[in-house]
Amino acid sequence: MSKNVLVIGTGTIGEPLIGLLAEHRASLGLDKVIFFKRTPLSDERGKVEALLRKGAEIVSTSDALSDFTKLGFSNVYDVEKAYEEADVIIDCTPSGNDNWDTIYSSLNKNKRYMAQGSEHGFGSFFAWGINNEVLENGNNKYLIASCNTHNIASIVKTFTLNQDRELTEGRFVCLRRANDVSQNDSFSPSPTITKHTDQDFGTHHARDVHELFKQEGLDLNLFSSAIKLPTQYMHTLWFNLNFNDKIEIKDIMQNLKDNEFLMTTEKMSSNKVFSFGRDHGYHGRLLSHGVVAEHSLHVKDNALTGYCFTPQDGNALLSSVAATVQYYYRDDWKDKMDVFNRYIFKNI
Ligand SMILES: NC(=O)c1ccc[n+]([C@@H]2O[C@H](COP(=O)([O-])OP(=O)(O)OC[C@H]3O[C@@H](n4cnc5c(N)ncnc54)[C@H](OP(=O)(O)O)[C@@H]3O)[C@@H](O)[C@H]2O)c1
Repeated sequence: MSKNVLVIGTGTIGEPLIGLLAEHRASLGLDKVIFFKRTPLSDERGKVEALLRKGAEIVSTSDALSDFTKLGFSNVYDVEKAYEEADVIIDCTPSGNDNWDTIYSSLNKNKRYMAQGSEHGFGSFFAWGINNEVLENGNNKYLIASCNTHNIASIVKTFTLNQDRELTEGRFVCLRRANDVSQNDSFSPSPTITKHTDQDFGTHHARDVHELFKQEGLDLNLFSSAIKLPTQYMHTLWFNLNFNDKIEIKDIMQNLKDNEFLMTTEKMSSNKVFSFGRDHGYHGRLLSHGVVAEHSLHVKDNALTGYCFTPQDGNALLSSVAATVQYYYRDDWKDKMDVFNRYIFKNI
């Protein structure tokens, strides 16, 4: 069986994901990495060219093929063929649920379909290293957790579930960047508060993490707030975990050392962390779940408080890759993911 993957969308998420898959295709054991570019845009010619150079193949709808040819891309083929060729389809558009209704639901049910975090309800939540077991649940639809969901889930897992501590309450504030450096829209000129629309969880961030762990039978007491800040750098997460028993800072530091998915930093500003990612990450992204600001950690009696930077969207990208490789290589998929260790740091 050919091991092909189709990525739908070439935006903030799709573009680096296509690059990650295509450039590591051989190590990951993939045959074709195909991407669907819906709109032939002359100002995005460079992006398409760069992705082709990385070894990916481009498809579009039949009505757009001649316009792609006019842009100089003669090797674009029909997406209908790619729907047949690829057994893993990763939707990276803001329309994952709609695309399921109108397109994917009529394709082969044995394929694996993924959508990105904001497409709530698409399928089982998945975050690489947090709940790998969910990939064995026999479902064919997965919702890749969003970047902040990865970060909150990692904080909960590292300091609570991995240690058998009993969490009485977890509170989080997502200090969000206004938009990505690649985006023009939605910049915010001043701190802008997100409504607490969820009576139980505050914002969707805690709700999503609660749902993720609920899949394995846990019922965690979590609450989140969010505020958008006038920055294009990474999100920053404030967290406060309350446990049944007293904790010690030395144990917390050891928990961090022992964990695989959170890095630490002495840096106190997101631009410093972002800049490290730009220079040493993949497509400018850090691929860890979060970057804990170690000087921010505070322990008092039963409570741990601190800050953790959220690496743009690198964590969600790696989870999309992991779920792709696991589909094709049930036994040695984790070994294949080792190719990304070169982008993972313990401390930056
Ligand atoms: N940006 C983040 O940090 C982030 C983090 C986590 C999750 N997400 C989620 O990931 C999804 C994608 O976000 P993004 O920031 O990458 O979006 P984006 O930068 O706006 O890019 C969207 C891409 O999807 C394509 N597209 C849109 N509608 C389509 C459709 N119906 N069929 C095929 N292609 C379509 C567009 O293609 P054309 O330009 O060719 O038309 C474009 O390439 C969203 O659900 C978002 O909420 C984003």
